[in-house]
Amino acid sequence: MKKLVTSLAAALAITTSFGSVSFAEADKIVIAHRGASAYLPEHTLPAKAMAYAMGVDYIEQDVVMTKDNKLLIMHDHYLDSVTNVAEVYPDRKRKDGRYYVIDFTLDEIKKLKTTEVFTVENGKQVQDYPDRFPLWKSNFSVHTLEEEIELIQGMNKSTGRNVGIYTEIKAPWFHRHEGKDISLAVLQVLKKYGYVSKNDKAYIQTFDPNEAKRIRTELYPQLNMNVKLVQLMAETGWNETMNYENGKAVPYNYDWMFEKGAMKEIAKYADGVGPWKPMIIKEESTRDHLIITNLVKEAHEADLDVHPYTFRADKGQIPAYAASFEELLDQFYFTAGVDGVFTDFPDRAVDFLRRAEYQSKMSKNQRS
Ligand code: G3P
Ligand code: CA
Repeated sequence: MKKLVTSLAAALAITTSFGSVSFAEADKIVIAHRGASAYLPEHTLPAKAMAYAMGVDYIEQDVVMTKDNKLLIMHDHYLDSVTNVAEVYPDRKRKDGRYYVIDFTLDEIKKLKTTEVFTVENGKQVQDYPDRFPLWKSNFSVHTLEEEIELIQGMNKSTGRNVGIYTEIKAPWFHRHEGKDISLAVLQVLKKYGYVSKNDKAYIQTFDPNEAKRIRTELYPQLNMNVKLVQLMAETGWNETMNYENGKAVPYNYDWMFEKGAMKEIAKYADGVGPWKPMIIKEESTRDHLIITNLVKEAHEADLDVHPYTFRADKGQIPAYAASFEELLDQFYFTAGVDGVFTDFPDRAVDFLRRAEYQSKMSKNQRS
C-alpha cells in the first residue's frame, strides 16, 4: 500500500497505539481475501468490487477448473458449500457425497446460485460465519478468472488506480490427477491480460511446492513469464497437497518448511511465502509476551515477502493475545514485520495502515 515513504523512514520509530513502528523498510500491502468476504458472499463479483472500493492493493482469486477446461473463481474444487448444486443437480455427486467442479461444464455451473459459505448439519444448512451476509438473500452467481480480471482492469481504467491480482492455483495435484494442467491454463490467462513480469501488479500463489518449482523452472521459461510467485505454507495434517503414490493419495510433507534454512530453499524458486498466522506469532502468546518465530526474519534475510493468512474480525476469530482486530494487525505488520496480510475485512486493514502512515507523518513533523 502506500509506500510508507522511505524518506520518512530515516530510522523513524514511533511509539503510539500502533506500537513501535519503524518505517525504514515499510511498504505494507492489504490483500482482499476472496474479496470483501466479511460483507458479501466470497468470490462474487460484488465482493471484489467492494474490496476494490475499499482501497486494497491486491484482490485474491482462488482458481479451479471445470470439465470443459474453463477457469472458475471458487475456494474449493467442490460446489456444495457455496452453491445450490445439490438442489439443481441432485444426481451428480460422487461416491463421497461431494459435487466436484471438474464434473460440470461452465454453462452448467453458471445456472447455479451462490451464497455465503455453509455446512450441512443434520440435513440443515448452517452458515459458517453467522453474522455475515445472510444465506441465499439477493442473487449471486459464480464467474471465471477472465471475468474477474476484466472487472479489476476495468476499474483500474475508470479510476486511474492500479489494483493487483493475487491468484491461487488450487490443488494442482488434484487437477493433474484428473488430466488437467490448471497451472498452464492460469498462466496463459494472466499472460493474455498482460501480467508477465515481476513489475506487473500480480502474484501467483500455490500450496504445492512441486508445482511452484515447475512454474518457475518449466512454465515460466516456456511462456516467457516471470510473475511474482508465492509459496503458501500449510501443516502436513491439513492434506492441503497430496501426491499420488501407486494410485493412492498421500499428504505432501511440509515439515522441512519449518526447519532452519527453509526460507533460503524457497527463495530458490519463489518471491514470497504465505504462512498461516500461528506460524509467525504462536497461539500460546499473551498480550504481554508475544512468541514470534524466526520465520519473518529468515524470510527477509532470503529476500522473500511475507503475506500471512487469514485476518478475520468475526466473533471468536481474534487470537487471545490481541485485544482487538487493529491490535492484531499492529502485532503482525509492525512487531512481527510482515509485508502484507490476507484479510476478509480489507476496509479495516486499509484504514489501519492509513492511520499508521498519518501518525508517522505527524510524528516526523513534530520532530522537525
Ligand atoms: O491463499 C492465501 C489464503 O487464502 C490461503 O488460504 O484456504 O483461504 O485459500 P485459503
Ligand atoms: Ca487462497
